[in-house]
Amino acid sequence: MSDTRANRRYRSQEWFDNPNNPGMTALYLERYQNQTFTKGELQSERPIIGIAQTGSDLVPCNKIHVFLMDRIKAGIRDAGGIPMEFPVHPIQETGKRPTAALDRNLQYLSLVEVLHGYPIDGVVLTTGCDKTTPALLMGAATVNLPAIALNGGPMLDGWWKGKRAGSGTIIWESRRLLAEGKIDYAEFMERACASAPSLGHCNTMGTASTMNALAEALGMTLPGAAAIPAPFRERMEMAYFTGRRIVEMVEADLKPSDILTRAAFLNAIKVNTAIGGSTNAPPHLQAIARHMGVELDVTDWQAHGLKLPLLVNMQPAGEYLGEGFFRAGGVPAVMGELLAAGQLDGAVMTAAGKPLAEALAGARSLDHDVIRPFDRPLREEAGFVVLSGNLFDSALMKTSVISADFRARFLKNGVFEGRAVVFEGPEDYHDRINDPALGIDETTILFIRNVGCVGYPGSAEVVNMQPPDALIRAGIRHLPTVGDGRQSGTSESPSILNASPEAAVGGGLALLQTGDRVRLDLTAGTLNAVVEPAEWAARRAAWQPPEILHQTPWQEIYRTHVGQLAQGGCLELATAYQRIAETLPRD
Ligand code: FES
Ligand code: MG
Repeated sequence: MSDTRANRRYRSQEWFDNPNNPGMTALYLERYQNQTFTKGELQSERPIIGIAQTGSDLVPCNKIHVFLMDRIKAGIRDAGGIPMEFPVHPIQETGKRPTAALDRNLQYLSLVEVLHGYPIDGVVLTTGCDKTTPALLMGAATVNLPAIALNGGPMLDGWWKGKRAGSGTIIWESRRLLAEGKIDYAEFMERACASAPSLGHCNTMGTASTMNALAEALGMTLPGAAAIPAPFRERMEMAYFTGRRIVEMVEADLKPSDILTRAAFLNAIKVNTAIGGSTNAPPHLQAIARHMGVELDVTDWQAHGLKLPLLVNMQPAGEYLGEGFFRAGGVPAVMGELLAAGQLDGAVMTAAGKPLAEALAGARSLDHDVIRPFDRPLREEAGFVVLSGNLFDSALMKTSVISADFRARFLKNGVFEGRAVVFEGPEDYHDRINDPALGIDETTILFIRNVGCVGYPGSAEVVNMQPPDALIRAGIRHLPTVGDGRQSGTSESPSILNASPEAAVGGGLALLQTGDRVRLDLTAGTLNAVVEPAEWAARRAAWQPPEILHQTPWQEIYRTHVGQLAQGGCLELATAYQRIAETLPRD
C-alpha cells in the first residue's frame, strides 16, 4: 500500500482525462460514452473497476456470475466506482477438449492483455470452475493492479437414493459399479446428473472448491466468500460487498503484491491439507507465486503441508458436500481452527484490508462433524508426499485419500514393490486395460505417460486409472497408479501424479518398460525403477521424443513455451513480466 488517493491520479484518467493528448482523450471518451457512460462520469476522477466475466453458456460452472453481475456493479457504484464488465477466454473443465488445462494460460494471457491495455484501475475476478481461479489470480499477479476474487459458489448438494451424490466423485464410483455389472448405462447417466442439481461449480472438495478456498486462504477474497453455495442469498450479498470492497482497495492502492507473500502461500498450503484439497493445487499455486515473483517450490508442499491434519469431512476424502461445509463455517472456520492451533501466520494482509487474524474475527467450526477441531481430525498427517527417483525429479501423492484397505493391501511399512505395466496415454489404457496378456494382478503398478503439459497437451486428468474389470469384480478397487498427467480433484485414488519432467520431454518415465520392477518407498519419499544402470543408460541413449501433433495454433504456442507441472506449468517467458501496471501502454 503506497500512495493514498489524495496524491495520485488513477490510471484510467490517462485515457479519459489527459489534456496533454486531447486527440486520443476525445477518441476514448466518445466511444465509451456511446454505450451509457457520460463524460461527467468518465472524467469524475472515480476509479474504473473491471469485472472479468468467466461465466457464459459454454461455462455453466461459472454462469451464476451472469446473475451476480448486477449486485457486483451495484456495490461498485455505491462505493463510488464505475464498473465495466468484460469477457475473458472461456474455460470449462469437463467440456473443453483436449484439456481445460491447456487453456489456463490462455485465459491468463487474455486477462493480462485486457488489464494492461484498457482504462482499468482495479478488477473483480469472477472465479469458479477449476482453472478459472488460478488463471485469473495469475493474471492479477502479473499486472499487479488492485484485485479481488469472487467465486460463484458450489452447486447445492446432489442426492441419489438418499445419499449425497458429489460432483465427479459419483462418476468414479459409478464407473466401478458399471465395471462390476451392478448398474447399467442409463443409471450411470442418472447418477451423474443427480450430482448437479443447481447452478454453481463442483460441490465436492474437487479442484474448483479447493482453488476457491485457497484464493480465500491467500487473502484474495473477502472472508467467507468461497464456500457460499451459488443459489444462496448470502452469495448475492457477497457479490455486492465484493463490489464495494474493490473500490476501497483501489482508493487505498492495496495490490496483489501486498497480499500474495510467501507467508500467504504457506498458509494456503496448510489450508489445502486441512480441507483435503486437490492435487491440482500445487501447480496452480506455484504458477500464481511465480507470476507474483514469490519463491515457492514443490518441496514446500511436503515441508509445510504434510504433517497437518485433515479437518474437513467433505467428499472425496470424507462424506459431506458444499452445503454442509458452508453451514459449518467454511474457510474462515478452517483457518480459525488452524490459527488457534498456532499453525497459520495471522499477520498477513488480506483483501479485507485487515491482517488475517483480525479478518477471521474469531471464526471457529460450527459443526464438528463437518469441520473437525484441530485436536480431533479425520486424519493425521494428511498432506502431500513429494516423491523423487529415477523416473522423475518430483511427483505428488495425496495421502488423505489412501484408504485403510489400500494401506493394508499394498504398503508394508510404506514400501511397495511391484511390476510395471505402462500405457502411452488414455487411448492405449482403454484399449488394453482388460487384456489378460498384460498379466495385471495386485502386484502391478499402472503407469501412464505422455499425458503431461507438452505430451497431451495441457496435462490430462487421467492418472486415476481403474484396474481391469476382472480385478474390480474380485474386490480390488484401486491399484497404485503413476503418471506425468494429473487427476481430477474429485478422485479418491491414491495416485502418484504430476510427475515432472514429463516423458514427452525426456523425463525418466519415458524409459520405463512393461515388466520392469518398480519400488515405492513412502518413508524415504522415493519411487524408482529397479533397472541396472547400464541398461537404463542404454535406454536413455536410444530414446526418441514422441511425435507431437499440434491441432491448433495455440497448442503449438503453448507447447513451445510451457514449463513443467512442478514449476507451475507456466508459459515460461511470461514469468519475466512482473508488475506491469507500473508502466502505461503507448497512447
Ligand atoms: Fe467446472 Fe467442476 S467441472 S467446477
Ligand atoms: Mg477437474
